Amino acid sequence: MTAIDRIETLLDEQRSFPPPEGFRKQAHVSDPKVYEQAKKDREGYWADWARQLDWIKPWHKVLEWKPPHAKWFLGGKLNASANCLDRHVKAGRGDKVALIWEGEPGEVRRITYRELLGEVTRFANVLKGLDVKRGDRVAIYLPMVPEVAVAMLACARIGAPHTVVFGGFSADSLKDRINDNQAKVLITADGGYRRGSLVPLKVNADEALKDTPSVKHVVVLKRTGKDVEMRRGRDQWWHDLMKTAGDTCAPEAMDAEDPLYILYTSGTTGKPKGILHTTGGYLTQAYATTKWVFDLKDDDVFWCTADVGWVTGHTYVVYGPLALGVTEVMYEGAPDFPAKDRFWAICEKHGVTVFYTAPTAIRAFMKWGPDLPAKHSLKKLRLLGTVGEPINPEAWIWYHKNIGGERCPIVDTWWQTETGGIMITPLPGITTTKPGSATIPFPGIEAELLDGQGKVVPVGGGFLAITSPWPGMLRTIWGDDERYQQTYWSKWKNVYFAGDGAKRDADSYYWILGRVDDVLNVAGHRIGTMEVESALVDHPAVAEAAVVGKAHEMKGQALAAFVTLKEGKQPSDALREELKAHVAKKIGALARPDDVIFSADLPKTRSGKIMRRLLKDIAEGRTLGDTTTLADPAVVQRLKDQYEEKEG
Ligand code: WTA
Repeated sequence: MTAIDRIETLLDEQRSFPPPEGFRKQAHVSDPKVYEQAKKDREGYWADWARQLDWIKPWHKVLEWKPPHAKWFLGGKLNASANCLDRHVKAGRGDKVALIWEGEPGEVRRITYRELLGEVTRFANVLKGLDVKRGDRVAIYLPMVPEVAVAMLACARIGAPHTVVFGGFSADSLKDRINDNQAKVLITADGGYRRGSLVPLKVNADEALKDTPSVKHVVVLKRTGKDVEMRRGRDQWWHDLMKTAGDTCAPEAMDAEDPLYILYTSGTTGKPKGILHTTGGYLTQAYATTKWVFDLKDDDVFWCTADVGWVTGHTYVVYGPLALGVTEVMYEGAPDFPAKDRFWAICEKHGVTVFYTAPTAIRAFMKWGPDLPAKHSLKKLRLLGTVGEPINPEAWIWYHKNIGGERCPIVDTWWQTETGGIMITPLPGITTTKPGSATIPFPGIEAELLDGQGKVVPVGGGFLAITSPWPGMLRTIWGDDERYQQTYWSKWKNVYFAGDGAKRDADSYYWILGRVDDVLNVAGHRIGTMEVESALVDHPAVAEAAVVGKAHEMKGQALAAFVTLKEGKQPSDALREELKAHVAKKIGALARPDDVIFSADLPKTRSGKIMRRLLKDIAEGRTLGDTTTLADPAVVQRLKDQYEEKEG
């Protein structure tokens, strides 16, 4: 759906859903005065949250704001892994199950907080044995197995920032990320399972490692048992190293502002941005939002379906739920393997009570039909969530009816890799929800809708802005503070520009419309059009490329690539497939274009800017019926003329 279509649909959306009385009564927050209290004393409010964590040394100042740089909980010392593990064990909750993990082939592991602490401690010692010191970066390229959480928490324990690279990314993407942050160690696996086939993680890693001089050691987890090459002196098996690892390792006392991790996300220029998160503020917001937005209690079973390779997996699979001490489900594989009811089978089997997923998944469930969830008992579910992209009201209603049994509130949560935690969201015991709206900012978060000049838009459309610093905010872009200032803080003075367009209604609810820059949201994953264009022109046959998003029924947006070939190269179906494969190889399968349209010329304005809106119309079939080729330069010229006439 284009932004325009969305505005039209949303304008019609009149339905609203107050929290069911039964839910409100038992909720952590049932009194709207929390918003007022947080507003009155924002720093005191966040400090109250921070005090719910374990600190090795208290902070002496809550916030220092020297725009655009914020520091939270200055002077305070803590350790994220100790907050996620040790303190629960110390409190006598060591036997509580932390992770219920299900592998794609069907095996189940239940891991208690005590066991998880044991694994993390031993693996922290493994890392130390590989000469990882406080401040050194460690890259993680693993499938969704418990060891990915173990590896992250072990890094946090010794103060080595981790950088998780999604297992679906290619060797090239892995290489670029490692080289950007100079990781010393890479943790990977012999492979992973996805839709019944093996993902060759180690093969990809080997390819990347040809050109990553900073990596001295590689730890390889045995997951599939498939034979892999082990380079002597560099590669060692996880299980071998763990055999001799000591089982005590005191958590490092980290400064609140010490880095916890770097996570890469797409930007408008070619190079992904290494978003840097620090320890104290990030963990505080992760904890606070997990507790209030998902309303988690001791007997809940939480399932966030995100992969740990994305920020949602960092905050709502690892740090938030574990800091809170909840039991959570972690699933390795695809939602349609071996059958399209896998998620509902998991919910039923493990008694999931709170379920958090992405609109793209919900649209797929919709397409697969309501009979699949109906085959399973989902009556334990009491709250549903969505994140990652705008949810269309139809999908919201479908989710409410067929998964939530019309009794579960839905929290539509808006946030970003950069924000670290949820920013705009209902509180399920208070907020009357409206399908398609993320509603209002979380208590203690200040957002506005601004126009290009920075004027507040009380009702109507504009740019989403965050007007004061928040604890989980990114601190900078790794190695490029200039780009940090430029990207997020240069549109208006001392105000954070999120890159999203939104609408605000008369109840001050936000309706997020999507990106306003050249970043596309494909199945909930941010992809910079420039990144894909660079990958295309990297192919020897390509002279020029322009990539646009087109509406896609399930993925929200899909990529359409317009390609001009070099002199003497001929368009063909084989080349089209080759180019798609080339992008998948350079970036990862998630960036593979759905369409490659050969064009003799790219339509450009007189100043040489590619007319992306025209390309989008073409890709979506509004201008031309057949979009497979624009081989005749006259066609492009004609389109361009018509367009310029229409646009005046
Ligand atoms: C989009 C994912 C509408 C938005 C946590 C944002 C959303 C980008 C929502 C961040 C939502 C995220 N409604 N749009 N509830 N949540 N987005 O960094 O465009 O992968 O800027 O973080 O996803 O994507 P990211």
